[in-house]
Order: sequence, then structure tokens, then C-alpha cells
Amino acid sequence: MSQVSTIATAPGKLILCGEHAVVYGRPAIALPLHALRAQVMVMPGNKGDGLRLVAPDLGQEWRVDADHDHPLSVLVLQTLERLGQNGQKPLDLTITPTSEIPVAAGLGSGAAVATALVRALADYMGQPLPPEEMATLVYSSEERLHGTPSGIDNTVIAFERAIWFERGMEMDNQPEPTIEPVDIGAPFRLVVGDTGERSPTHRSVGEVRRRWQADPGRYEELFYRIDSVVRQIRIALASDDITSLGLLINENQELLEAMGVSSPALERLVAAAQNAGAWGAKLSGGGWGGVMLALVDETTVEPVVEALAQAGAVRVLTTQVP
Ligand code: PMV
Repeated sequence: MSQVSTIATAPGKLILCGEHAVVYGRPAIALPLHALRAQVMVMPGNKGDGLRLVAPDLGQEWRVDADHDHPLSVLVLQTLERLGQNGQKPLDLTITPTSEIPVAAGLGSGAAVATALVRALADYMGQPLPPEEMATLVYSSEERLHGTPSGIDNTVIAFERAIWFERGMEMDNQPEPTIEPVDIGAPFRLVVGDTGERSPTHRSVGEVRRRWQADPGRYEELFYRIDSVVRQIRIALASDDITSLGLLINENQELLEAMGVSSPALERLVAAAQNAGAWGAKLSGGGWGGVMLALVDETTVEPVVEALAQAGAVRVLTTQVP
């Protein structure tokens, strides 16, 4: 165990295509967003202080044993258990999470903080964990927070590379997820625009579930069409076909609108990006606010950034993939 402090970080994420349908076993493609990161510092605490979490972003500080139901407390205890710390020898640690990733914006802030926490604790104890094990620990934390997560956020953030993701479905005798690297023929650029509207993922995911239960035929059809778009996007990415990629991204947006998870603010930014020359644009993540992404090239990046700011984006950033 280290006697000096340890710092670990984890990136935000973007869902390039397939959100929501991925909860129902359809494929999706996700990318790490290295420009925004969460960070967790673990340092030795005072003797007898036990495990303390200090979260300056939340303005909160607590002892794990005093608030053991807090999702971060549960994650600390589960991670230590995985690392063989079964509580027989009490640990005095101060754990400080901070994050530059906006919350409830579709950028995976919760999963990034959780991943940085698992990574920092494991590194501090001198037992770094492989990405799949970090993803598993973070998945149970996400489950407590939003019910039926597909597992895509924790996976892309733990692996920190573009992934093809299909959730494991018990009913199909496929309990394990499929996680594959995505072949990217040539680097491409995305502009991300934040509507500033905040909507926790569990709300839109819950609403889609209610609508799917009320009208399974219509929703299965939408999921099927998204599945087909995601498969075509994989091919377009591998073959560096930016024209098809853009059209498919637009098609995914139309399907998300039909599903009812878009919003006027998202559609304003999507239209602004398209009108400014983006090859394609769509919401990314849970929807009902949060962020959208636009596919651009060297000549359209500046006009699209400008158009998004003009259309009311509270934050605009660009990222290159990979
Ligand atoms: O809003 P985010 O960043 O948590 O993305 C959620 C993606 C969904 O497909 C809507 C939900 C999920 O668990 O996959």
C-alpha cells in the first residue's frame, strides 16, 4: 500500500450511435471523450478517521461508515473487498473525487467518477485492475443509480477506446456483453454542443420503457431500424466514408426523435450544425437535453462551432477520433 497520495483519472464518453436501443440488446458505438475527465485522489488519512469521502464539487464530506448507503460509499467498500481488504484491518483514507464533466448531460459523468475512484483505490493499494474488472465494479454502481443501464458507459470509460457494445441478454442465453474494438479507417472530428438542459438518464430510459411496454410493436421497429443504422455506421467508419457516416448519423437522430427522447433545444443545435455544413448531427446519450454531436471536417469545424454557440449552446468542444 502506498503511503503517498495516488491520483487516477477517467474520461467522459460520447455515444456515437445506438443509445436507448442498446438497453434492449441492440448494438451501439461509444467513444471516450478525453477532453473532459474525472479525477480521484486517495491519500492517507489521520489515524482512526476511517474511510472519508470529500467531494468538493458536491459540497459534501462524509465518513463511509456513517453513510454506507451513499453510492460512492458502496463503491469504495466493494472495491476494497475486491482488493482483498475485508475490513479486518481498518484503513484510514481520504478519497477526493472531482470532475470537469457536466452531470446529467449525456457525457457519462457518474461512470467516469466511479471509474476514477476504482482505479485510484486499486493503484493506491498497489493492485491495478484490468479494464473489464473496473467496468464490472462500476456497472453495479450504475445499476444502483439508474436501474437498467446497458453497461456501455462503464465499459467505454474503463477501456478508454472506441467500442462496439452489445448488452448481454439473459433471455437470449447471452448473459455476457459483446465488447469489440471499432475499426476506424481515418481519424474524424466531432463537435459537441451542450444544450445546458440537464436530464438524468433514468428519466428518459424509464419513459422509453413505459412506451415500449405500451406499444411494443412500434418500439421494436424503432430499435430494429437503429440496429441497422449502427451496423452501417460501423462499415462507414472502417471504410472512411464520411458522406455515408453523416447521413446515418442524421438518420439515427430522426429515429431518436421518433422515440421521443429528443428536445426542442437539442433539435435547434442539430439543425444549426447541419445548416452550417456538418456532415451529420444527432443527440448523444439519454436525451431530453444534455449534449449533441456533429460530424465535421477541417473546413466545417469553425462554422459549426460558431453556429452552435449562436444557437444557444452553453458549451462547445471539439474532439478527434481516435
Ligand atoms: O445519458 P448517458 O450518458 O448516461 O447515456 C445513456 C445511454 C442510454 O443508452 C440512454 C442508457 C444506457 O444505459 O445505455
